[in-house]
Amino acid sequence: MRIGFFDSGIGGISVLNEAIKHFPNEDFLYYADTRNVSYGTKTKEEVNKHVQTAVEDILKQEVKALVIACNTATSISINELRSTYDIPIIGMEPAAKPAIELSSSMDKRVLVFATDLTLKELKYRKLITRIDKDLIVDPMPLPELVDFCEDLNFNWDELSTYFKSKLERFDLNQYGTVVLGCTHFPYYKPILKDLLPSHVQLIDGSRGTVERLSSLLEEKNLLRNDGTNDIAFQCSNQDKNYITKMKNALGILQNTLSKPENN
Ligand code: DGL
Repeated sequence: MRIGFFDSGIGGISVLNEAIKHFPNEDFLYYADTRNVSYGTKTKEEVNKHVQTAVEDILKQEVKALVIACNTATSISINELRSTYDIPIIGMEPAAKPAIELSSSMDKRVLVFATDLTLKELKYRKLITRIDKDLIVDPMPLPELVDFCEDLNFNWDELSTYFKSKLERFDLNQYGTVVLGCTHFPYYKPILKDLLPSHVQLIDGSRGTVERLSSLLEEKNLLRNDGTNDIAFQCSNQDKNYITKMKNALGILQNTLSKPENN
């Protein structure tokens, strides 16, 4: 049986990419809710309805575990999903804990990039109240970045201008870590590395999520040794062009963009 991955669009492919490296003998199903992308600017009720419908659609197929490769969907729907289905369901949340540890050791602050909805949700606020004892975490919603990503827009100049305008009110030297709290954002690591001071570390939750998935599969005796890293790409509006886009997106992550020569 395959391991399922779900996101509103191509964001969760950044988590799938981590899983491919970790599980050479597993097969995957990646499902994007293209009918409703993006989630981060919708209401909580709308997102929950879309997530429940999409997961119902995914689980009509044989899937042994499901990764909700979307911070926004996790923050709203993970409890309901876990109480509805029996298979292991792994969620994601902004990796603020390791970021706080690292930044504290440098006597610096933490900046969390995510969607509006993730940052407003109770799950995130509870997490931060629990772990940010020295009040060093600042939130920064970047909803437009999801749209740039869905358009596969990696225009270096355009993106640099966008990030600079969003970051101008921060004294970036005060920050030790930036958390990429949306699975669409790791595509922009190369640009961010170029723009941020060199001591700033980018932290995303993909590896931690895949490690959690791995230990759950092991615990439940669900690991395979006969898979071939085959990936079935699916989307809710059955758009063939979007399937091609998903494959291209994986290629982009695997080759990792670099700064254009003449810049
Ligand atoms: N990739 C999703 C996340 O991690 C959400 C993007 C969106 O649909 O707004 O939050």
